[in-house]
Amino acid sequence: MNILVTGGAGYIGSHVAKQLLESTTHDIIIIDNLSTGNKQTLKTLQKIRDFKFIKLDLNRFKKVDKVLEKYKIDTIMHFAASIIVPESVENPLKYYMNNTVNTTNLIKCAFNNGIKKFIFSSTAAVYGEPIDILTSGIDESYVTHPINPYGMSKLMSEQILMDAATINDDFKFVIFRYFNVVGADINYDASELQPRIGQSFPNATHLIKIASECASGKRVKMSIFGDDYATDDGTGVRDYIHVDDLADAHIRAIDYLQINPSDIFNLGYGKGFSVKEVVETMKQVTKVDFSADIVNRRAGDPAILIANNAKIISKMNWTPKYDDLALICKSAYEWEKKL
Ligand code: UD1
Repeated sequence: MNILVTGGAGYIGSHVAKQLLESTTHDIIIIDNLSTGNKQTLKTLQKIRDFKFIKLDLNRFKKVDKVLEKYKIDTIMHFAASIIVPESVENPLKYYMNNTVNTTNLIKCAFNNGIKKFIFSSTAAVYGEPIDILTSGIDESYVTHPINPYGMSKLMSEQILMDAATINDDFKFVIFRYFNVVGADINYDASELQPRIGQSFPNATHLIKIASECASGKRVKMSIFGDDYATDDGTGVRDYIHVDDLADAHIRAIDYLQINPSDIFNLGYGKGFSVKEVVETMKQVTKVDFSADIVNRRAGDPAILIANNAKIISKMNWTPKYDDLALICKSAYEWEKKL
């Protein structure tokens, strides 16, 4: 099978590409404009197995169409997107262009070329700020109400995908709604954790990335955004999923679509950790102490966001392997030290 991976030089796309190269025999074609993607990541992936890389922005619709035709693509895995929430508030059109418009055109190109399968990278940001704290986690039927252009640009893309599929019986999709994707390549060398790829994007805003920057001495201290939430220790609670478990679900989705209908799946462990628990775990596994001062809440942060993942477990037989906060922190830290 010929698989197109858009955004394959980026954080999540590269972990999926790694698993495709390592554990399948599919031919892989990566498109990335390298705006946030990383050239070194592509070099590392080339050491696993050869693939075709095309530097291209998805807004070059005619060229994208030609790539799909030339490489006789069977399945599209679409990761290329802008993903920074505050930036989406300041520059919404960038998000609607890069995410919604480019996705629409990619679907159009897929139709032009008779491509039947589309796997789409969406986000828990489509649920916005849940109004009730669900102990069972948020399931896929929970109301979608994004509170920023990033979440809306993804929700609109989901809707376009669903509408398009209703007029093309041959076309099927899987939409994955990611919770907090973290960690780096699980790769052991002489029993030591040696990530080959990880999150390289500068100006981090995500908790585990920031905590690993503190532990590796790149940052002197960090802030905990609020300790007055309605949670056990007062700090925000999130569902942190290791990027390799998340990538594994994408590999399963390829086979799943051979015999099953289109569907939407949450991707998380169904388990929450507070900011304080994450910071403490990072300190313990790295044996590095650093300051984490309590400051005011960050605007737009809900108290608790936990996935209900029953659907993907039962329908795709997905079994997480790295559901371990210490291992997650360790992999993020080991990668940070290499960067
Ligand atoms: C972020 C995105 C979300 C996206 C998700 C996965 C924002 C506002 N939200 O989720 O849309 O789907 O990533 O990519 O960007 N925290 C601190 N100190 C820090 C950083 C974070 O206390 O320096 C806290 C936050 O308040 C939150 C938790 O840590 O309670 C997790 O934050 P973060 O890693 O930024 O992810 P989210 O905001 O949950």
